[in-house]
Amino acid sequence: MKQEVAYNGLTFEPYISKEEIDARIKQLAQEIERDCAGTCPLFLCVLNGAFVFASDLFRAVDMDAGISFIRLQSYSGTGSTGVVKEIVGLTENIEGRTVIVVEDIVDTGKTMLKLVNDLKAKNPAAVKVATLLYKPDSVECDLKLDYVGFPIPSKFIVGYGLDLDEKARNLSDIYILKQDK
Ligand code: IMP
Ligand code: MG
Repeated sequence: MKQEVAYNGLTFEPYISKEEIDARIKQLAQEIERDCAGTCPLFLCVLNGAFVFASDLFRAVDMDAGISFIRLQSYSGTGSTGVVKEIVGLTENIEGRTVIVVEDIVDTGKTMLKLVNDLKAKNPAAVKVATLLYKPDSVECDLKLDYVGFPIPSKFIVGYGLDLDEKARNLSDIYILKQDK
């Protein structure tokens, strides 16, 4: 794991290693197998940030399951704009299916709340949420998170799919902003 990385003049330090992420994903996968046994759930990956986590989680789950993708955007730089834009929509029919939304990080929760409400309107059997990271001090809405990898402080994170203006997604480990925003 590298010591520090810098993007856009901001310095980030190592925070969660790929080994720790892998171990946690194995546990989450077992919980999903147990909770969703016999349902052939549809994993719904929220692009772009969750594609790395979704790829690892999907392969860690030992059961019949499908995967699809949706693209939403609410962030610009290191801050949430508060407005959630749907860039690529859902094409699958989810009526009667168990949907597991796979997200990289829940910050204010606005992205997830909008998505979960939109999905519930399509009559699925159940909508569950799996997020790798969760900032409990930032959440502004009443949201049920079924599978959480790591609760973290309200600081900006990059790596393992998470970006700063499209940079740093390809780091294997997770890094945290050193100084205050
Ligand atoms: P929310 O709607 O405020 O919960 O924002 C969630 C989305 O913002 C996530 O799907 C991420 O794409 C992005 N985001 C939130 N916090 C971070 C962060 O610390 N690093 C990178 N992206 C973040
Ligand atoms: Mg995201």
